[in-house]
Amino acid sequence: MSRLLKEVLKDKLTPSELNKLYAGFDIIGDIAVLKIPEPLIVKKHIIAEALLKAVKSVHTVLLQTTPVEGEYRLRGLEVLAGEPKFETVHKEHGCLYKLDLRTTYFTPRLSAERLRVANQVREGEVIINMFAGVGPYSILIAKKVRDVKVYSIDNNPEAYRYMQENIKLNKVEIKVIPILGDAAKVIRNTLQQTANRVIMPLPEKALHYLPDAYSALKEGRGIIHYYEHVFYGVGEDPLEKAVENIKTKADFRFRVNYAGVVRDVGPRLAQVVLDLTVS
Ligand SMILES: C[S@@+](CC[C@H](N)C(=O)[O-])C[C@H]1O[C@@H](n2cnc3c(N)ncnc32)[C@H](O)[C@@H]1O
Repeated sequence: MSRLLKEVLKDKLTPSELNKLYAGFDIIGDIAVLKIPEPLIVKKHIIAEALLKAVKSVHTVLLQTTPVEGEYRLRGLEVLAGEPKFETVHKEHGCLYKLDLRTTYFTPRLSAERLRVANQVREGEVIINMFAGVGPYSILIAKKVRDVKVYSIDNNPEAYRYMQENIKLNKVEIKVIPILGDAAKVIRNTLQQTANRVIMPLPEKALHYLPDAYSALKEGRGIIHYYEHVFYGVGEDPLEKAVENIKTKADFRFRVNYAGVVRDVGPRLAQVVLDLTVS
């Protein structure tokens, strides 16, 4: 895609400007979200119009104006070209997700990771998704597994509203239970010792919530999919650092079944996943 963008812009930007273009952009449903480096901001409309023309499935081009931030993990967005809208329906692994990019979190960059987790779920499991957003992990699991129950929690009322809609859209009402609230409080009040598997897709704060994830496991046993953003220095391994971080917080025994870097999210900052088998 970035090659395509550079190709369509080759007559409109100088070679040095082309080199400054960020490598990628996201397409979510029929909306493209671009990051443009400061020196090229004056050309933002030219870049957006070129993208709109080049990718027929894109009807709106948005500029990301802030990093993903705050409790609900939202980003600032500005309409650059096409229809002035923020709501779309994204298709992933045969599931449909309706969402508003201004008021809910969603990234297609976790698509492979969601599938990796969903493929591990066995018949009969009870799962808690602590930070469910508009529902992509929960709904994919429910689509793939016949006998499963997923408690799907988010504290953003807008994400919860779209999650409810997406549960209906994907016809998984009997398997996915949407819950609006703080995951720690919901677990403490109603879901202690309930789950075989807990998913924690909030990398900025997963360590803080790890004791609650553990308390949600039935008889203190099961699997926790733990995500963390880890800064690592030269010669350091982000995966080892994540394991060390967990050891500072976990008062339970665990084995790391799988460890991987999901993606780089900044210079020397990796999003890692650890699948923990807890006993
Ligand atoms: C990084 S997003 C992940 C969303 C979703 N799992 C996905 O892959 O698209 C994290 C989500 O956690 C929610 N969140 C943040 N703090 C929370 C809390 N204490 N309890 C429940 N949800 C929370 C945010 O509103 C956001 O939707």
